[in-house]
Amino acid sequence: MSQRVRIGMVGGGQGAFIGAVHRIALRMDDQFELVAGCFGRDPENTRLTGEELGLEPSRCYASWEEMIESEAALPESERIEAVSIVTPNHVHHGPACTALRAGFHVICDKPLCISLEEALEMKAAVAESGKIFALTHNYSASPMVREARERILSGELGTIRKVYVEYLQGWLSEKLEESGQKQADWRTDPARSGPVGALGDIGTHAHQLLEFITGDRVDSLLAVLNTFVDGRALDDDDMILIRMASGATGTLCSSQVCFGRENGLKIRVFGTRGALEWDQEHPNDLKITGEDGVARNLRTSTGAVGESANALSRTPAGHPEGYLEAFANIYKNFASAVRGENNSMELPFPGIVDGVRGVRFIGAALESNKNQSWVSLPAEDC
Ligand SMILES: NC(=O)c1ccc[n+]([C@@H]2O[C@H](COP(=O)([O-])OP(=O)(O)OC[C@H]3O[C@@H](n4cnc5c(N)ncnc54)[C@H](O)[C@@H]3O)[C@@H](O)[C@H]2O)c1
Repeated sequence: MSQRVRIGMVGGGQGAFIGAVHRIALRMDDQFELVAGCFGRDPENTRLTGEELGLEPSRCYASWEEMIESEAALPESERIEAVSIVTPNHVHHGPACTALRAGFHVICDKPLCISLEEALEMKAAVAESGKIFALTHNYSASPMVREARERILSGELGTIRKVYVEYLQGWLSEKLEESGQKQADWRTDPARSGPVGALGDIGTHAHQLLEFITGDRVDSLLAVLNTFVDGRALDDDDMILIRMASGATGTLCSSQVCFGRENGLKIRVFGTRGALEWDQEHPNDLKITGEDGVARNLRTSTGAVGESANALSRTPAGHPEGYLEAFANIYKNFASAVRGENNSMELPFPGIVDGVRGVRFIGAALESNKNQSWVSLPAEDC
């Protein structure tokens, strides 16, 4: 019997973006075998994608419902053990809950889903099934993010006073959705993206990164959600003032109309005794300013960083690693959890709590934007 975890994929057919990234990530450490899929709503796309990937035609399914039902009916030694969900936001809740209830582990892309009601049902399904659930907030599995978190939690920066996180892109500066571009099309459609655009797409990454790196939580916020492109139904630019539970304050900005910006996710944290800064476009660097006021640039796979950060790197110093490897780190830790192996790495991957908090964050920002007032977030999901 294969030692690899047998996995099925929902979404990620030809022409899709993140499904291919997940497939690279799940292969990187040789921990998974992709054996089944429903790669799109069009069965012909699923057939062609399955053929390209070398899957058995009988395990390329016309719908995710059929995939889960048919796989559950196979002998235990053959059926999938986990489902990877890489569909637009409105097709996360259905396959995730159905897969969990059928006894499969789930790894799903963000945001968790499109409403708090869905999120709470997913949380209950995870708890009732006892299955593993991972949410691919991939940036939190980047080695220097792990290093930053450990340094903040150890108190190296003193008491945290200021946090600034921004996620700036420019690709939706024009009305790209009118051209039929697949990724722009659903991201600007409330039925498929959910009640927010940029905030759900990239703001939730910024929110999760902020809470993960500081070990703190957003306690309250004041949000302004803008739509710059005429005729667009959802926000394409968000400005949010943040108060953390610890008393630190700061801002979270997410925008997809910052002309020329590619994938500008950046976080800066300032304490009473030091500061740090991480930029996902230069993921192997972590800028630290110590108590002496001197700034240093720490690099991955060097003696300057700790054990858990180095454990997330695959190559010696100076070899660029980044986006794909961070995804692979989540898959690797997910595989260990599925096998019930002990994993000494604290918080090995983001899960259902991160997902529910992300959905609550979106709800609070919508309410704040509507009433132009501060809105508190509950602590109970932490
Ligand atoms: N973590 C990240 O860095 C990251 C980056 C990009 C996208 N995402 C997330 O990944 C998800 C997908 O985004 P994308 O950009 O790849 O979208 P995409 O439009 O490129 O791909 C979506 C795929 O899902 C398929 N699909 C749609 N409905 C389906 C259904 N009912 N059954 C089976 N397949 C179905 C489509 O045919 C397509 O193949 C989104 O939730 C998005 O937020 C995450």
